Amino acid sequence: MNIKDLYIEFFKKRGHKQIPSAPVIPENDPSVLFNTAGMQPLIPYLMGAKHPYGTRLVDYQKCIRTNDLDSVGDTTHHTFFEMLGNWSLGDYFKKESLAWSFEFLTKDLNIPVEKLAVTVFAGNDAIAEDTESIEIWKSLGIPEEKIARTKNDNFWIAGETGPCGPDSEIFYFSSDDEIPKTFDPEDERYVEIWNNVFMQYEKHQDGSFTDLPKKNVDTGMGLERIAAVLENVKDNYQSSVWKDIIAKISEIANLPYEGHEKSMRIIADHLRTSVFIAADNSGIKPSNTDQGYILRRLIRRAIRHAKKLNIDIASDWDKQIAQLIIDKYQKYYQELKDNNQVVLDVLTNEKIRFNRTLEKGLREFEKITTKLENNFLDKDLAFKLYDTYGFPIELTEELASEKNIKVDIEGFKEKFKAHQELSRAGASAKFKGGLAGDGEMETKYHTATHLLNAALKVVVDKNVHQKGSNITSERMRFDFSCDHKLSDEEKQKTEELVNKWIKEALPVTVQEMPKEEALKTGAECMFIEKYPDIVTVYSIGDVSKELCGGPHVKNTSELGTFKIKKEEASSAGVRRIKAVLIDD
Ligand code: ALA
Repeated sequence: MNIKDLYIEFFKKRGHKQIPSAPVIPENDPSVLFNTAGMQPLIPYLMGAKHPYGTRLVDYQKCIRTNDLDSVGDTTHHTFFEMLGNWSLGDYFKKESLAWSFEFLTKDLNIPVEKLAVTVFAGNDAIAEDTESIEIWKSLGIPEEKIARTKNDNFWIAGETGPCGPDSEIFYFSSDDEIPKTFDPEDERYVEIWNNVFMQYEKHQDGSFTDLPKKNVDTGMGLERIAAVLENVKDNYQSSVWKDIIAKISEIANLPYEGHEKSMRIIADHLRTSVFIAADNSGIKPSNTDQGYILRRLIRRAIRHAKKLNIDIASDWDKQIAQLIIDKYQKYYQELKDNNQVVLDVLTNEKIRFNRTLEKGLREFEKITTKLENNFLDKDLAFKLYDTYGFPIELTEELASEKNIKVDIEGFKEKFKAHQELSRAGASAKFKGGLAGDGEMETKYHTATHLLNAALKVVVDKNVHQKGSNITSERMRFDFSCDHKLSDEEKQKTEELVNKWIKEALPVTVQEMPKEEALKTGAECMFIEKYPDIVTVYSIGDVSKELCGGPHVKNTSELGTFKIKKEEASSAGVRRIKAVLIDD
């Protein structure tokens, strides 16, 4: 059995329910581009919501971290990885969690205790030293000298705010050297393999902490790392996770891995991540914004490194590698199977687009850089490479650094922003009054729709229900069941109530739950049969609760001022309100 299956089985035997990996593109969290940790899709449950699968969960979660994208090429960095995680939602705590991690590593994976060391939270002004974990580790057989206490590296939070807590990290001594008697977490021969976070606090915007309703456990173990450790390889890309992909690249390029490691690692990593982004059911395509831009950068950088290896770019080299990756992972991730052709098409289309200008762009780059003074590439030249030849700025930067040339990145970014604002103005003029999208304004209107629905129930009649809606970036239209024309007073009161809720800065939260349970809680919905068995429910403070796919703002304070423009008949027994949001 492989590590992934062993891990899942181990925790299932200990009462955990396996939950499916969430998509790499978060469904209801516009604040992050990708899922970066196993806990991310579980935030509402760590904050106290009831999870439909219970209080003990286990999964393998596909994650993408792009902050180190440019470091890919060395032995350890990758942009995509799988995180093995187990959770207690107010169920077991430190004792069971650490004991199970220890048992899995030493018994199931047969790692000798001598090779392990741990760190625990040393405490700070607000939160005490984690003496409980220290005692547990000692009782399990980790000697005092192998337990290090740190302040900064042993407190885990996904971003700036949200669920968090002290953690204990488990390290593995990955060298053949003699193991030092005392563990030093800075010693690079030690690699961190598993993190157990004891999530019992919520961090707020103002930096303060409050207790979460329950004490939770959140753990994460990177599959790529644990595989490299167990297989005793010094280069992660030589482990079973990567070996076949590297071998394929080597075969296509007709070159050995030795001597060409950097380009082969970049191609392997970037194509693997591209496969997972392109296969996501959200249908992301290469573009110049957000996830689409990351996808574009990854594919274009992989193409450039394939060129460096003299691979014939026009051949199907990229499809061959992508297909190998799809075949390898589709057993675990259904979307790779479902969207196999989509992935191959994305790669081909982006290659064709880039290829049209790549050669010319590289020639232009050579021409420009041989004439430079002071080894400095200014913003106008960098922008020309972007605008005319499709070079992501990071590609220009990488090419430049190979020739010791500095690029005016800041200047480029300003020029890029000005250019984007211009094209956005053009685009919004084109779509005026037209299609519904999910831009910033549409998202605000979407949330305003829920508030209006709730306000009508209070002001007009509790039996008012939504019959339809239509949103553009300029206005919202909302149809609802009602047997009379609204009086001026009703309109005014409705407007006032929505604005009161906006002023109250109510949080918008999302929860997943079985459909039946959602209905029992009284959540509002339009066509119940349209929804899957597990549904997402959006709540706004305690004034509104609706089944809905989003997207929504995070807080009603983002909406501005709500104004009803018109109230008219739509069809028999159905009235229609047109309303706008005005910036404060
Ligand atoms: N959420 C923790 C991490 O990513 C487990 O390290």
